[in-house]
Amino acid sequence: MKTTNPYLPKKVKILSVTKDTNDISTFRLNYPIQNKPGQFVEVGVLGIGECPISFCSYSKKHIDLCIRNVGNVTNAIHKKSKGEYLVVRGPFGNGYPMEQISEEHVSRNLKNELILIGGGTGAAPMRSVIDYVEQNRKKFGKVSIFFGFRNYENILFKKDFKRWSKLFNFQFTLDCSTNKLKCNTGAVTLLLEKAKFSENTKVLICGPPIMLKFIMPVLMAKGIKEQNVFISFERLMSCGIGKCGHCELNGKYVCKHGPVFRYDEAKNFAD
Ligand SMILES: Cc1cc2nc3c(=O)[nH]c(=O)nc-3n(C[C@H](O)[C@H](O)[C@H](O)COP(=O)(O)OP(=O)(O)OC[C@H]3O[C@@H](n4cnc5c(N)ncnc54)[C@H](O)[C@@H]3O)c2cc1C
Ligand code: FES
Repeated sequence: MKTTNPYLPKKVKILSVTKDTNDISTFRLNYPIQNKPGQFVEVGVLGIGECPISFCSYSKKHIDLCIRNVGNVTNAIHKKSKGEYLVVRGPFGNGYPMEQISEEHVSRNLKNELILIGGGTGAAPMRSVIDYVEQNRKKFGKVSIFFGFRNYENILFKKDFKRWSKLFNFQFTLDCSTNKLKCNTGAVTLLLEKAKFSENTKVLICGPPIMLKFIMPVLMAKGIKEQNVFISFERLMSCGIGKCGHCELNGKYVCKHGPVFRYDEAKNFAD
């Protein structure tokens, strides 16, 4: 019987590279594979290494990875251009519970409202959630998207903003004020404080730990149930498939049992 070795990466062609900010680019790769929003791949350069990166779009034809250049592997990836090759393993991880949420909305008629919160590169996996919702629009209720970026230069996916504003309640904030754009200034929590939520509101979050620290009390004060909040966690990873123990957090492997955890199950994770 033929088995696939999960450690063996596939050589994958870069279809395009789009520069998003000074140190972030989106790589479109010829890797047509079934994936779920919130899952990730191990991507890298032969002879250098690999690192986990979330899907930032939802498509069966290719994958998009929005990658910040922070170190050894991401620097080697950023040196690659269209037509060159990267190596990829995956998809790995559980992803956001999109099917469970849409099933509740359609079959059980719970009229789910969906809130998507992304901070910095945490907006990347949220973009794949947004793509999924767009492609399955009738299966979801009202959708609000709240993004937070450091400043004008760090805004991601600007080209999508007009479309998202037409389809959803889309808002974003910048930590620092700017005269280049009329927009909200301050932390993303400001948008949440003004928002109204229904009883069955589901909240999907990806962002830095400091953002979570401020967001959670606001959500709880608004009556959001802990079991309706889903957070994507980042840990240093190696195997990506629950074997090496690198990503262990309170007895769970973030690569295998996560990276998405329900807040009531993850709130006591000691970091
Ligand atoms: C499930 C998952 C999804 C991710 N999705 C994305 C994504 O969509 N886009 C993106 O740009 N990045 C994403 N990351 C983070 C990315 O994996 C790291 O930035 C990458 O591993 C850095 O590798 P490097 O060799 O370039 O840097 P290194 O040379 O290893 O490190 C550079 C610096 O970053 C720190 N660092 C490395 N990895 C992490 C990490 N996982 N968490 C916190 N600090 C870290 C190191 O301690 C060091 O200070 C994700 C991480 C996880 C676990
Ligand atoms: S990265 Fe090896 S167990 Fe998670």
